Amino acid sequence: MSIDFGTIEELQHLTNGIYVLTVAADGIRHGMSSSWVTQVSGEPPLIAASVDVAHFSHGMIERAGAFGLNVVGKSAKRLEDYFYSSACKHENNLEPFECEMTAHGVPLLREAMAGFECLVESAHRVGDHTLFVARLGMVATAEPDAPLVSHDLEYVYLGTGRILRRGQRITEDT
Ligand SMILES: Cc1cc2nc3c(=O)[nH]c(=O)nc-3n(C[C@H](O)[C@H](O)[C@H](O)COP(=O)(O)O)c2cc1C
Repeated sequence: MSIDFGTIEELQHLTNGIYVLTVAADGIRHGMSSSWVTQVSGEPPLIAASVDVAHFSHGMIERAGAFGLNVVGKSAKRLEDYFYSSACKHENNLEPFECEMTAHGVPLLREAMAGFECLVESAHRVGDHTLFVARLGMVATAEPDAPLVSHDLEYVYLGTGRILRRGQRITEDT
């Protein structure tokens, strides 16, 4: 099947929040940038996060059965800068940040403007990602701030390992 790069590029106009997805399993605490996240039910309140099956975090979420969604505030953009950078590309990459561990063993970043403990209810394979649907556990809030959103960044996550710089065209090598 041929990929229509023009169509994929248009997906950059969708608006998403910017989160750090955190998870702990087997003595490792790990985090990744995450933007394909949304609330999917009101009663009960359920949140879904889509995670590439090839990501290290994916297996950790399956093992832990829980993960954290940390809402990145504009004044804490350094969180996104770190998880975008090569500095975070190793196991146990939460060391630079102070975490609060929840009752279910989920690390929540104290620097985030809000943190949601997400307890996985179901997992659905959707193409090359898994949609983890989770109920809310603990909720942590810090100082009021405005959440960072996808259009505040000069790049956008488009899946298949692609981070597109805005204005850049997708090619076979992107
Ligand atoms: C702004 C931004 C948003 C991202 N959103 C997602 C996402 O929603 N789902 C996903 O699977 N990867 C997403 N990624 C890619 C992962 O954060 C990235 O591939 C990370 O290195 C995976 O880490 P891991 O393999 O250590 O788990 C995003 C990356 C960026 C920069």
